[in-house]
This record gives sequence, C-alpha cells and structure tokens, in this order.
Amino acid sequence: MSDQSFKKRGVDYPFARGHRTLPGKYYHDAGIYDEELEKIFYKFWILACRAEEIPEPGDFKTIQVGDESLILTRNSGGNIEALFNVCSHRGTQLCVEPKGTFKTKTIQCPYHAWTYGLDGKLIGAPLMNEGEGFSKEDCALPKAHVHNWEGFVFVSLAEEPELFEVQMEALMGKFSEWGMADLRIARHIEYKLDCNWKLILQNYQECYHCPGVHPLLSELTPFQSAQHDFSKGAVIGGFMDITKERGSMTMDGEAAAPPVCDVAGDDLQRVYYYSVFPNMLLTPHPDFVLFHHIVPKGPGSISNHCYWLFDPKVISDEKAQERIQSAIDFWDMTNRQDWQVCEQMQVGTKSKRFTRGYYSGQEDILVALDKEVLKALGHDDPK
Ligand code: FES
Ligand SMILES: [Fe+2]
Repeated sequence: MSDQSFKKRGVDYPFARGHRTLPGKYYHDAGIYDEELEKIFYKFWILACRAEEIPEPGDFKTIQVGDESLILTRNSGGNIEALFNVCSHRGTQLCVEPKGTFKTKTIQCPYHAWTYGLDGKLIGAPLMNEGEGFSKEDCALPKAHVHNWEGFVFVSLAEEPELFEVQMEALMGKFSEWGMADLRIARHIEYKLDCNWKLILQNYQECYHCPGVHPLLSELTPFQSAQHDFSKGAVIGGFMDITKERGSMTMDGEAAAPPVCDVAGDDLQRVYYYSVFPNMLLTPHPDFVLFHHIVPKGPGSISNHCYWLFDPKVISDEKAQERIQSAIDFWDMTNRQDWQVCEQMQVGTKSKRFTRGYYSGQEDILVALDKEVLKALGHDDPK
C-alpha cells in the first residue's frame, strides 16, 4: 500500500471492487473495543492537544484515553510532559479539571497531599520515611511519550513506541508551507456522538456520499475531483479541487482569509483530507486549517472535537470575524450532515440482518483503513 502516484477517486476504482466492509460487530462488540484500546490507542502515537493550549509552565490539560487519564503540562524548562493522572501513594486520580494552571508549579494529590513537580517527580510525602521500603525516587508519576509535530502534541502510552517518524512517515515534511505551529485556535466545537470511532474516519475518507449528504460542499469541491495517494503506514489522505478561484470552504465559497504562511501554487486551489490514524482528521485549506480530535468513549460513543486554526493576525482583526464565522458555519453544517449518517449507520450495523456490506470503487481508502485496523488487532481478514 505505498503507491505514491495520485489517483482519481471519483471513478470506479478496481482496488476496492470486490471488497467487503468490516462485519457489524466491529462497531459494537465490547471485546473488540477493548482490544482496540490495548492494541491501538494504548500503543500508537495519538493526538493529545495543541501546544498552544498549555503555553506556560504549570498550564495543564487533562485527556482521557480509554481507561487512562493523562495530565499534559509544561514543565519549568518549557517542555511538555504527559503524566499519568494517578497518585503513586494509593492510586487516587490527581486532577479532575479538564484544564487550568498549577499555580504552585506542583501537582498535589487531594487525598493525603503527596506532591509532585511538573516533571512528575515526587517532592513531598507527609510523614513518609525514606529507607523503610519507600523512596521518593521510585514514586515519580509514570510518563507517556510526547512528540510535537507542527504545534500538534502527540502522545504514546506504549513503553517503547515505534518512532513517531515511522508511524507518521506520510506527514514528514508534508504541509510545512502552512506553518501550522504558528497558527492559533479560532474556534473549538465538541460534538458528542453515538457512533463508533472508525465510522468517523471512514466517513471522512470517501466522497461517494457527498452529492446526497453535502449539496453545498459538492458545489465548492466537486466530488469527482478527489485525488489521493496511498501512503505507507497509518496516515492516508488526498485532496480535492476548489472550483472557485482563490475560493475556500465557506458558506459563500469565498476565502475566509489570505493564504496561510507560504501556501502557494496548486495548493491555493486545494483542500487536503488526511486521516492521521487513529484519532485525528487533518484538513488544511489554503487559508485555514481544520482538524478533528476523536476521543472514543465506548464501542458506540465518541467525543469529536473540531478546531479551526487561523493566522493569529487574522484572529485578532475585528474586520476578519465575519469571514472566520463563514468557515465555521460551513464546516459546522457539513459536520452535522456527516454525524447524522454516521449515527444512522451505527444503529443499522447492529441489526442481526447486517453481516457485511459491499464497497464501491470509490471507497478504496476505506478498504485500506479496515486493513490497518485488522493489522493492528492481529485479526485475519474476515473474508
Ligand atoms: S492517594 Fe494520593 S496522597 Fe494518598
Ligand atoms: Fe461528509
């Protein structure tokens, strides 16, 4: 699966022909979901947050990954740490706030006041005597691995993860013209959805549904313009042409802002769609970047966080607000159109009468995604 040549997606595509979808149980079975947590979410590099969300030492954000909770914070040296949110004394969750600032630059357990530094080291344990089977050094908070790519903070909960550059090979050097580390969040919307996390990735990577589900999107970017490359590894994506000259994905199809950073040439007329397996959808436009952060909450439940990134100068410009809002409105509308069909698919695939579906020639990326899931789980192709 490493054919780097661009291929038209809007035509019948022999690679996908004859392939069947995953059996319905892959969207409902609690055992398979637990396996996905173990073999995918606790193992792969996954998106955690934007670096800008924890700008100063002591700032933090907590995230949930299956049964695990992490505290993402910036230590005194300015580096980002991902600490397991569990006290070494008797296992109490340390921090229940979604975000904030550790004003004392320490993390204190609410139970018996054991206190940790921002680097996770235990610095205070009332009435505990070192040397009696206890040493502070052994009681540091465990850490997850952290990698910052273009201002996106990724973590891996694995003890020895694959190199980030290997898992994300297709992203290396990609999109550098967007200068994404310097973009800032203009808006964030959380969608709570009753569907399996994989349905969101699948929905994102085919435009077979676009003419019926997204009339306006189909006007701005004809679904037959979609092209993609099969990239090695877990990142799969492509782009679609924007019909209107210097247009974008907004309610009227006009740009929301000047081109971002060094975006030029063909990229001024393209919107890219990259699913960064397993929990991120990255959509660079000429003038802004949209991304989704998918948080699974169970086999049939997710939180899907959608963010709009713009140049900070645009965000602070009073006159630019209407155009920013137009990009937000367009994608909020389009998102909700997608969520509706994803939730209906979640219900339908539970039927005893649904065994496996049939992919069209336009859904080849979904075949690749399914293979990635099966490979990660170590399951044979159910065919
Ligand atoms: S459980 Fe945290 S200090 Fe006791
Ligand atoms: Fe869609």
